[in-house]
Amino acid sequence: MNPESAQSDPYNGLTTAEATLPSSAYWETAEFERDMEAIWYRNWVMVCREADLAQPLAYRVFTLGSQQVLVLHDDRGELRAFHNTCRHRGSQLCRETEGRLKARLLTCPYHAWSYSLRGDLVRVPSKSLPAGFDKADYPLYSVALSVWRGFVFINLADDPVGTPATTFDRDSADLSNWPLENLVTGHVLTKVMDCNWKIFWENFNECLHCPGVHKHLSALVPIYGRGLMARHDDPEWALHADNDEPQFSGGLRQGAETWSEDGTALAHRFTGLSDQERAAGQNYAMNLPSMFIVGHVDYVRTVRLVPLGPERTELTSEWLFLPEALAEATKDIDNIVAFGRTVLEEDAAICEVNQRGLRARPHRAGVLMPEEYDLHRFHDWVRDAHRRAAT
Ligand code: FES
Ligand SMILES: [Fe+2]
Repeated sequence: MNPESAQSDPYNGLTTAEATLPSSAYWETAEFERDMEAIWYRNWVMVCREADLAQPLAYRVFTLGSQQVLVLHDDRGELRAFHNTCRHRGSQLCRETEGRLKARLLTCPYHAWSYSLRGDLVRVPSKSLPAGFDKADYPLYSVALSVWRGFVFINLADDPVGTPATTFDRDSADLSNWPLENLVTGHVLTKVMDCNWKIFWENFNECLHCPGVHKHLSALVPIYGRGLMARHDDPEWALHADNDEPQFSGGLRQGAETWSEDGTALAHRFTGLSDQERAAGQNYAMNLPSMFIVGHVDYVRTVRLVPLGPERTELTSEWLFLPEALAEATKDIDNIVAFGRTVLEEDAAICEVNQRGLRARPHRAGVLMPEEYDLHRFHDWVRDAHRRAAT
């Protein structure tokens, strides 16, 4: 919650009925393309972890809407990103989605123009070169890339706004006490959901669905069981202002330490967390439109989205651990992963249910309830992005 509103009106909830985005925003092809242009091609988008490209000459190709971006680890140890397109007649450069380059040159599969790993055109195999042609005029099209604490972000805008560090949502937890750069991936779940990417974020931004959809999670995080995310989501919060029971204050049920099947945490925990961070149980940081991170006392989980179409979204979740924790505790890690998978599967399934109802011809838009104040903020963010793109 933003501190100014905390002083004047500490209640988080919406007090007027606000409409959702129009229902066509969730299924129409033209609307999907508008989102791609206005949002996905203009914001920082997380594509992978730095560790995924740790090997010299490693590369990956990421598809975002109609765009393909090649990210590679060059011969000087730098990460670079380019459109996966040759400057000659526009052929795709890398045909595989990942691998290691065999040489320090990128060679087009069509007529063998070759580029340095910095993107300069260095070889054109024609017998002679035409007048007025200068290789220096034809470097690869570069794409902005930024590494934030071990996460690789790209930005397809000509003139990117901000950096991944500055584009986290204003309410995001500051995860500086978590050693994000040093964590290793212990489990990955990839799932294609039959829903628009915005449906996922709407679901993420409210807990009104928690009592009905997440029985298990609602038992672990009692305030979720009340359909709320935080103390000040309750219009009657002042009646319980001094009550530190988790159903009012947030945090995990008595005796639980982390998000796991039985609530127990790994023996190896993050040592630099504050008491408040430990007590919170979950600490979210969201970077729209592509990712969120949730920090617990013993591990971190990330979720990354890729929009595949108006009604299809790919989700990748990674569980990140301290190397020493991952080395010794398989059973305990299963205990953690199983819990998170259940929550994700429940969310993905209900997002698909939401999507299936949206095409009803009379349904022009929905309406938000007080607990959905963060959806309203998300909708404003989408509307603003469209407005900016249109000017
Ligand atoms: S299109 Fe790449 S060399 Fe011709
Ligand atoms: Fe949920």
